[in-house]
Amino acid sequence: MNNQSIINEIRSKIDIVDLISEYIPLVQKGKNYFGVCPFHNDTNPSMSVSREKQIYKCFSCGASGNIFTFVSEYENISFKEALHFLAEKVGYKLDNIKIQSKPNINEKYYEMYDLTAKFYQNNINTTAGKTAKEYLKKRNIDDDIIKKFSIGFSLDKKNSLIELLTKKGYSNKELVDMGLALDDHDVYINRIMFPLCDISGRIVGFSGRIYGDSKLNKYVNTKETPIFKKGQCLYNYHIAKESARKKGYVIVMEGFMDVIRASTIGIDNVVALMGTALTNEQLMLIKKLSPNIILCFDGDNAGEHATLSVGTQLQNIGINPKVISLGNNDDPDTYILKYGSDRFFSLVESAINFSDYKIDNLKNGVNFQSDIELSNYVDKVIKEVSSIDDEIRREIILKKLAIEVNIGYNTLEKRLNKYISDSKVIEPVKRTENKHLTRYEKAVNALLYNMMINPDAVEICQKKRVCFLTAKHRYLANEILFYYEKYGNVNIADIYTYLSDKEELLALLNEIIKTEDYDCSVKAIEDYIKVIEDYNMRQEIIRLNDLIKKEVDPIEKSKIAEKIRLIKIGENNNG
Ligand code: GTP
Ligand code: MN
Repeated sequence: MNNQSIINEIRSKIDIVDLISEYIPLVQKGKNYFGVCPFHNDTNPSMSVSREKQIYKCFSCGASGNIFTFVSEYENISFKEALHFLAEKVGYKLDNIKIQSKPNINEKYYEMYDLTAKFYQNNINTTAGKTAKEYLKKRNIDDDIIKKFSIGFSLDKKNSLIELLTKKGYSNKELVDMGLALDDHDVYINRIMFPLCDISGRIVGFSGRIYGDSKLNKYVNTKETPIFKKGQCLYNYHIAKESARKKGYVIVMEGFMDVIRASTIGIDNVVALMGTALTNEQLMLIKKLSPNIILCFDGDNAGEHATLSVGTQLQNIGINPKVISLGNNDDPDTYILKYGSDRFFSLVESAINFSDYKIDNLKNGVNFQSDIELSNYVDKVIKEVSSIDDEIRREIILKKLAIEVNIGYNTLEKRLNKYISDSKVIEPVKRTENKHLTRYEKAVNALLYNMMINPDAVEICQKKRVCFLTAKHRYLANEILFYYEKYGNVNIADIYTYLSDKEELLALLNEIIKTEDYDCSVKAIEDYIKVIEDYNMRQEIIRLNDLIKKEVDPIEKSKIAEKIRLIKIGENNNG
């Protein structure tokens, strides 16, 4: 059996609806299943999954594919890795399968960071790292945790890392480009080093922390490089991924140290922000970890601000997070150290809804003696209440508010209902409609689609020698024909695999799939072919007419005119 056959077999053993349901909730509507697309920022169920065809597609962002592309996109892993992952799920070993994959041009740099991380980790266990280690010990970070988070130490020397890496064949320019050197000296000198990983767990940078009484910046992060984008990174993501799935929720904290401390009490389903505002990419990453998110930021003003802004960002993408307030200027790290794990877990248990947190917060700084401030406050609370889905909770909050501000419940309710009906003006699901396609272009897409789901369509096209005038359509048609001849069948889900290393064709496939319903009857197939043939003929006539204009020899001119005449007769005879 060749590779594609084994891969097709694996694909046929995993139902796409079951698989995607493990990642996002799907609801059946008619023949298809629908869910919120994880590949773009959305709250509408714009992703449809077809059990019949074993493919998914999103009406909104246009993503489409089979089980392998889904896992590869969702987990941000290569097609090959997705294949191995799913093969294992159904008990296949793929050791001997060779799947073409582009060599990663950054491989060299991943290796460089690995070497660097090992160097730092070794340093912390030497005499030179003694003071740094003592600092960690004092903060209750023991050897096991140091190991678990691969914490290391950069020597108090001008260029120890440069020396090491140049010996290993890296140029000074590479070290500078990758944020490890500045001119002739190391970027990290005498710091405790935390490796930063990308979402699949590869080291892509470092954060170095001062210890002792240094006046320098507390943390220094690796600058942005081709493989490190701070805005696409969350500390501990690759570990939290597994754990969040098992536990059904994820906790978001502010600092590295908070995450590390949480792990000492068995909380691994936790990530930390990178000390900056949350980017859209990070938001999507958090959403992928779990729909159940608990924000546990520092118990100071900055933490309160961060809670409000991150919570609102999550609300905007349809997630209602929960909130733990630590107060007392504690952060999760100091809280756990002071009060122990039991008390922290009870905070997790009793985390409050973000909307309640926000409403509580609206009170801050309001002068209740001022009519304007009071009415502003009431209005803001009601607006917030209108976003709560639960009628009973809405009523409870409104009743409390009525008493608090001494305004009749009915007045408040009237305002609430206004906001609710305003927000009910549902925005239609935005579809990335194909830009207006001509009849010919539609026919081409429809025919190619039919060729991927129906062997008869392939046969008919072969018999009629259908010719596509654009190179990429011709290329796709040829690939489908080739697939059909080799495997004796066509199947759109497997064609995704077959085309997996041909980006141009995958993009075309996505374009074709975007259209909702193609007519797939034999009559329709024949009609599409007719449209394409007519178009080809007209193009040929145009070409010949151009030739006539350029031709000077009258005999040649009349030969071409005759050709045109014959084509036109043929057209009349056919039609
Ligand atoms: P400790 O102070 O050791 O407890 O670390 P922490 O992780 O709790 O840090 P803190 O709560 O002060 O800050 C939260 C996060 O902001 C850190 O984990 C860093 O990602 C980031 N951060 C804090 N200080 C700096 C800094 O000086 N420079 C940079 N680039 N980031 C910082
Ligand atoms: Mn801290």
